[in-house]
Amino acid sequence: MLGVAGGIAAYKAVEVCRRLSDAGALVSPVLTAEAQRFVTPLTFSALAAEPARTSLWDGPEASPHTLLGQRSALVVVAPATARLLAAYAAGLSDDLLTATLLVARGPVLVCPAMHTEMWEHPAIRANVATLAARGVHVLEPAEGPLAAGDLGPGRLREPEEVVTAAERILRATASLSGRTVVVTAGGTREAIDPVRFLGNRSSGRQGHAVADALAARGADVHLVTTADRPVAGGVRVERVDSAAEMEAAVLGLAPSADAVVMAAAVADFRPKAVAPSKLKKDSGMPEVVLEPTTDILAELGRRKQPGQVLVGFAAETEDLVANATAKLQRKRLDLVVANDVGAPGAGFEHDTNAVTLVAADGTVRTLGLRSKQAVAEALADEITALLGQ
Ligand code: CTP
Repeated sequence: MLGVAGGIAAYKAVEVCRRLSDAGALVSPVLTAEAQRFVTPLTFSALAAEPARTSLWDGPEASPHTLLGQRSALVVVAPATARLLAAYAAGLSDDLLTATLLVARGPVLVCPAMHTEMWEHPAIRANVATLAARGVHVLEPAEGPLAAGDLGPGRLREPEEVVTAAERILRATASLSGRTVVVTAGGTREAIDPVRFLGNRSSGRQGHAVADALAARGADVHLVTTADRPVAGGVRVERVDSAAEMEAAVLGLAPSADAVVMAAAVADFRPKAVAPSKLKKDSGMPEVVLEPTTDILAELGRRKQPGQVLVGFAAETEDLVANATAKLQRKRLDLVVANDVGAPGAGFEHDTNAVTLVAADGTVRTLGLRSKQAVAEALADEITALLGQ
């Protein structure tokens, strides 16, 4: 279903409709009353598999919103206006499009378009965040020329980008659908005092890419992360800071997870006591006493459910396979992603990575230097295969 709300970018929805149809989709267009001020239902009817619908009341079906919502493999809203996003976030159903959105159980992709001031308004930010947290896919607007000669973020993505995003969602609904996966990412921060922490150089890039790759295959992904990085629509994000917070989040989610991927760099030690107020220079040299944190992955290994897949990361500088294998056995893992942190272009703060996948059955697969997305895809392949066994 292609929902069209009332903004000037509605003219681009015509092209979206055309391209979706060309790609083989059976498109049911739904136009709001305001959309019809910019484009006509006839235009869409001529391009789509079905005549455009515009009303809850005047069509041939008694209940068009339940029909459309229940049978659509994907609902795309382009453009999604400020009003549409607000209604959807609030659960209002005052027209056919908003009512259908409340019925839809399948994936929904919203493509916002509006003036920059509106896009940046806290109310809109909150509505978009609410929708994203519910698993709605949001194709964020681009920056560029807007109506009335203005310029800035708020421009509807180009039709081809909307169609690519739609295809990605549809393709993905396959291999891991019905599976729940927990992914961790980033480096933990262990407080010394209210302003300082012990941290590490993990950026969260690899873990976030893994979460995206698994979500793109239809998995229900919970990402527990310390990193403030964007994620693909459909990923549920829980932000944490310390190893203890990550432990609580992961151990809470793990019992109902089919797989857990611990890509985070979790501190092995933390300050035993956190100073209640800022340590001052002139109070002398502080002595920071450390204590061990819980090894979350080892704990997951102890609590492992039958059939659950556990994946760990191992940052190594030497004896990669031997060290990774020892870690795999010690923590009862199915797979270790051994990271050669010494290799050029790999590891922390790079967009590329060089890893070796070591599996419990002894299989060793070395992947040469490639993007972290490509590493994530390879890992998603392995996890899909392990879950299928
Ligand atoms: N890990 C964890 N909890 C910790 C520490 C690490 O869950 N407190 C996880 C990491 O997310 C990663 C794997 O364990 O998946 C790394 O194992 P670890 O033994 O900590 O690796 P290194 O820190 O590299 O250990 P070593 O010092 O033995 O090389």
